[in-house]
Amino acid sequence: MIIHLNGQFLPKDQARISPDDRGFLFADGAYEVVRAYRGHLFRAREHRERFDASLKALRIARPADLDFSALCTGLLQHNQLADAEATVYLQISRGAAPRKHAFPAEVAPTVYGFAASFANPVEKWAAGVKVITVPDQRWARCDIKSISLLPNVLANQLAQEAGAHEAVLVRDGFALEGSLSNFAVVMDEVVHTAPRSNYILPGITRLVGLGLCSALGIPVKEFPVAEADLKCATEAMLFGTTNEVMPVVQINDRKVGDGQPGPLTRKLQQAFRDYVAECQRRG
Ligand code: PDD
Repeated sequence: MIIHLNGQFLPKDQARISPDDRGFLFADGAYEVVRAYRGHLFRAREHRERFDASLKALRIARPADLDFSALCTGLLQHNQLADAEATVYLQISRGAAPRKHAFPAEVAPTVYGFAASFANPVEKWAAGVKVITVPDQRWARCDIKSISLLPNVLANQLAQEAGAHEAVLVRDGFALEGSLSNFAVVMDEVVHTAPRSNYILPGITRLVGLGLCSALGIPVKEFPVAEADLKCATEAMLFGTTNEVMPVVQINDRKVGDGQPGPLTRKLQQAFRDYVAECQRRG
């Protein structure tokens, strides 16, 4: 595998990152994951803008010569993934400096990226998945795509151990989002999803999904979903770069609706796939 590190493409086993790197010591950095559909970087501009917003919030200077899309495309090309289903991961940490909490005076950020092939979760898309609810133990800036993901990791592990696909994080009685996806339910034929705030990541798939709802005439309410109301949901779904639109058919021990992916979810799933195909066609 060829990775990118600080301006260079090189074999992964030749990559050298200092143990003083603040990404390693403090999880002091931000990241992005972009889906590449046979070389087409899905919503690259939105991912770049969110990356910039995360870096700005963390007060990490973005290297001036960093070209987000060119870097993603370079990673795909160097790994023979330019015509494949793939994801690209980019991360920038504050850089390497002797351990001290406050920012070092002068430090160059560490830029790291890799691309990996990706297999669509077609069986899960067809059958739907189970999720569990887990207390949200994250901080109050979940809108920053920070590499500090320990609460997400722990929640996701609980999901794995429960035989579930995702953990839905509940804060103050509200089901906000998944450990690596956004979450929505259908109640009374209306898609309900947590509004943008500092308690969720402004997911790009969520944004596209809500746009598709509007195009399809499906009403949306961006309103906090109470955990206690989940039993009233007739459908549920996840939105995310790796999930696209993923039907949820079970929440904890309770079936959602009749336990099959619901009709609005199916419509959105198809619309999302069609939209991806159109983006690929347009190049
Ligand atoms: N995660 N919420 C959280 C907490 C996430 O980590 C993600 C993405 C999303 C969905 O955002 P988007 O639609 O822009 O992918 C929501 C990525 C895929 C990850 O950490 O691997």
